[in-house]
Amino acid sequence: MKNRYLVLLLAPMVSAAAQEPPKVTAQQFVNLQQGEAAHEGFRRAHAKGICVTGEFRSNGQLATYSEAALFEQGVTPFIGRFSVAGNNPTAPDLKAPVRSLALSFAMSSTEQWRIAMNTPPVMAVKDPHTFYQQIQAIQAGPKAIQAFFAEHPESSDFLSWKAQYQPTGSFAAETYNSINAFYLINSEGNEQAVRWAMQPKVFVPADNLEGVDALHQEITNRVVKEDIVFDWMFTLANEEDDENNPAKAWPDSREQITAGQVVITAVTPQLQGECHGINYDPLVLPTGIEATRDPILRARSAAYAESYRRRAKEALMGELEGQGNE
Ligand code: HEM
Repeated sequence: MKNRYLVLLLAPMVSAAAQEPPKVTAQQFVNLQQGEAAHEGFRRAHAKGICVTGEFRSNGQLATYSEAALFEQGVTPFIGRFSVAGNNPTAPDLKAPVRSLALSFAMSSTEQWRIAMNTPPVMAVKDPHTFYQQIQAIQAGPKAIQAFFAEHPESSDFLSWKAQYQPTGSFAAETYNSINAFYLINSEGNEQAVRWAMQPKVFVPADNLEGVDALHQEITNRVVKEDIVFDWMFTLANEEDDENNPAKAWPDSREQITAGQVVITAVTPQLQGECHGINYDPLVLPTGIEATRDPILRARSAAYAESYRRRAKEALMGELEGQGNE
């Protein structure tokens, strides 16, 4: 753990501007992600999803590392969303390469923490411009993405994960990762870089699932019978780990602390649920959690806001048109 005030004082004044990759705007990202025909009123990425509600039951183990109120022993409710990657809200959910979980905690009327996690533990690339090129390659087809990976050796940790990943038969059986690192800050101003993962408590094989909405139906049926539980596990970086590079995995030997359990108790179709109106911006952070300098975090925040602006405006226009017809 480092003392952040000391680190800030001693930090060398480096001008990094010269080596920075070209900038990509939020509009460029969202234009590319939404594709040629946008699905009005829906998220421009992870468009297909389902709202969830539940609570985080903290065991108090992380309270010495972060003064965030939800790490004290106790219970904090959340509004969340399971989703699959892609811009089409009616796409077959089993075909999506990535599954996701987003959570929004309201610690008080003025403090929230919003989290959006994916199944891979790392990204394939480490900066927004190269991620933009990766999406272009995905859209161009299998040959282009193969060529992209061949030209980007930094994708090796992502490709190793992908080679062994077996999609399960339930949102409840996946592991969801922060990918980007954040700092835990305690009351003495000490900072600790961390990544985290929500780890499932059940294994559900993928056999016997079929249909366009298979995962959505499975989770809707499951939650009626049992709570959906994940261990919230934090991995602590040491000096050798670069917290600003989301493409590089940290060794398995790093210290891990389980902060408690995330328990989902109900699901609601997304258009009727509260998650629909939430922008799961990863830079909405409470006291006790801070962003690293990872440039992907800024790009995410800006792109989520642009996607939110577009879908909120369309939803409003839809409502106004509906009123006109009455
Ligand atoms: C530069 C990189 C990225 C860009 C440009 C990007 C872009 C977007 C956009 C535009 C949305 C729709 C937001 C909305 O309308 O509410 C979205 C949603 C989402 N993204 Fe990203 N993303 C990036 C990286 C990541 C990473 C690294 C993760 C995982 C850690 C992630 C996880 C998610 C999740 C889970 C959602 C759905 C959240 C929800 O349920 O509302 N994204 N992304």
